[in-house]
Amino acid sequence: MITEEVKQQILDAARVEEVVGDFVTLKRRGTNLIGLCPFHNEKTPSFIVSPAKGIYKCFGCGKGGDAVSFMMEHEQMTYPEALKALGAKYGIKVEEAPRTAEETQQLNHRESLHQVSAFAESYFKGQLWKTEEGQRIGLSYFRERGFSDATIEAFGLGYSPLEWDALTKAALKQAYSKEALVECGLTIERENEPGKMFDRFRGRVMFPIHSLSGRVIAFGGRVLSTDKTKAKYVNSPESAIYSKSHVLYGIFQAKREIIAKDMAYLVEGYTDVISLHQAGITNVVASSGTSLTQDQIKLVSRFTRNITILYDGDAAGIKASFRGINMLLEQNLNVRVVLFPDGHDPDSFSRTHTIDEITAYLSEQAVDFISFKTKILLKDVGNDPIKRAELIEDIVGSIALIPDEIYRAVYVQECSRILHIEEVDLISRLNKVLRQRYKDELRKSERSESGTGSQGTAGVSGTSPEPSGGEIAVSGLSDRLAATRQQADLVSLEQERDEALECGILRLLICHGRETTTQYFLDEEGNEIEEALSVARYLLAEMEEDELSFTNPVYQQILDIFKRQQADNYVPSLDDLMMIEDETLKNRIIDIGYTPHEISPNWEKKLIRVPSETEPRILNRTVLEAMANFKLRQFEKAERDLLEKLQKSDLSEEEIMVCLQQKKRFEEIRCNISKKIRRILL
Ligand code: CTP
Ligand code: MN
Repeated sequence: MITEEVKQQILDAARVEEVVGDFVTLKRRGTNLIGLCPFHNEKTPSFIVSPAKGIYKCFGCGKGGDAVSFMMEHEQMTYPEALKALGAKYGIKVEEAPRTAEETQQLNHRESLHQVSAFAESYFKGQLWKTEEGQRIGLSYFRERGFSDATIEAFGLGYSPLEWDALTKAALKQAYSKEALVECGLTIERENEPGKMFDRFRGRVMFPIHSLSGRVIAFGGRVLSTDKTKAKYVNSPESAIYSKSHVLYGIFQAKREIIAKDMAYLVEGYTDVISLHQAGITNVVASSGTSLTQDQIKLVSRFTRNITILYDGDAAGIKASFRGINMLLEQNLNVRVVLFPDGHDPDSFSRTHTIDEITAYLSEQAVDFISFKTKILLKDVGNDPIKRAELIEDIVGSIALIPDEIYRAVYVQECSRILHIEEVDLISRLNKVLRQRYKDELRKSERSESGTGSQGTAGVSGTSPEPSGGEIAVSGLSDRLAATRQQADLVSLEQERDEALECGILRLLICHGRETTTQYFLDEEGNEIEEALSVARYLLAEMEEDELSFTNPVYQQILDIFKRQQADNYVPSLDDLMMIEDETLKNRIIDIGYTPHEISPNWEKKLIRVPSETEPRILNRTVLEAMANFKLRQFEKAERDLLEKLQKSDLSEEEIMVCLQQKKRFEEIRCNISKKIRRILL
């Protein structure tokens, strides 16, 4: 727990434009700053930072928040981690209040692993640079490979001495715990000889692996001898701070440039990343020898949607890599591929060519995955018609994975051109695959539907309860699905209307709650009197008068905040609301508060301003209209419910009378509201 006081200090100090500016290039546009959204791929900026409001908002992907949520989202931090990072940026010391024992234990556990890893990194660096053995064996190895001193430092490379337990001894002497050393895999304890410990990485050059935020979480150690019985690389085992499948080597060093270039190169190994960096290409990450995982893709796709995979010349792993390509396609990423000349990997190529040659090669050789896959597979096909058909199936299968229809169409064209197949033929094959997939999904959903025990879907066709022929059963189901969907659409349209009106009221509360508005009320004698009061008070009072609430639960939660504070005669400002820790709530508030009323949909071309609500006359009118329209709808709905009720035949006479009376009252209220609006507005 960070104390409230320090938290407040940090929130006061953090300038959203500075925090975001560390990761995104921002340009001033009026009172706001704009840039390319770091959370989705875009060519024209729709990411806005408002220094005045202390928030950012992307009008493309909808992400929004304040400085803290930016750190959480962008750096994958928890709330306390984000506060701490901001504290560090602004030189505010974070003294932590006491934690629960369990929190302390968990945090201490992870933190102890982080600390021992940090110690090991600096130990290995010290060995590399400052000891005779390290210089002679480790440093000379790196230099022979062509790594400059600056590069060696940038990646924190190090050396682990030949001695059995050099690191373990040094760490224990510094009071790091044996348990932490063992869990991080830096130390291995003999199973049958408890207490007998040795270094996992002894005699290897060390590649520290960093988290997104730059902390050391694991190591790769490369052997120096050519002894074929020894694994070339030994890597840290999984631990509480390291999950191999979630990490990309080099992401910390590469992320800025990936955002800037809106593209990431994906390579296989540590040395590929490092050599390309040294050559000046810094938007590179490695999957570190494993085949790509969904989590790694998620990680990189937070920074860009354009991935170029760099492969060695030897084709051994290439076919295995097709699975990785398919995974990228499924995520709607744009995949391009560069194949290096035989015998070269990105590392050796970048060491033997100038930066201009490398850049030229990468841009000239990059081909989309269709051309790549076709080229590779065609080699095996020859004149064999069966193999050729299989190849087409394979490629069509890949294209079908792409969620975006437009991209699919582009690839169909491309494929048609390369394989000399009519586009229509490809499209019909593609549709077949898509239909099949659709059917499979329906079947899956049907299975899970019947699994929940609901029997409501049977009996639409009336005949066979157990569908026999796949085709017919499926079309029956899809009809039913379509019908439900239509119903769902209607419901959601109604819901949308409600929410739009509710949102309108919240927007006024959030943006103008404290301002004064002049509204008309009826006094006891039925005369209209003018009264000036705060927007918040007016809106809340009006809602209370007719006991109205919001249909959207999140909106209602926000409204409740205002109601609670109103009881203390306080109207929360946007700043106050930003203190809420509930992220969804906060984001909704930002969504609402950062209003498209200030910025029209094509704000990008010109900042069109609607008549300003800061003008009292306009504000009065907007407030009145928002409340009136909301109320009209409430009573309209109530009337409709009554009508439905009246149509039921089993009502008693008395019940019918009550309903009719209510209906009449609602009609009157509605009529009054309409009149009032007309009178006041005209
Ligand atoms: N790798 C591994 N364990 C191995 C071999 C490889 O973890 N026994 C991983 C490493 O992350 C390595 C990557 O797979 O960086 C690629 O392997 P390779 O191409 O063999 O290594 P390079 O990085 O090219 O290393 P070098 O150039 O020093 O041979
Ligand atoms: Mn290599």
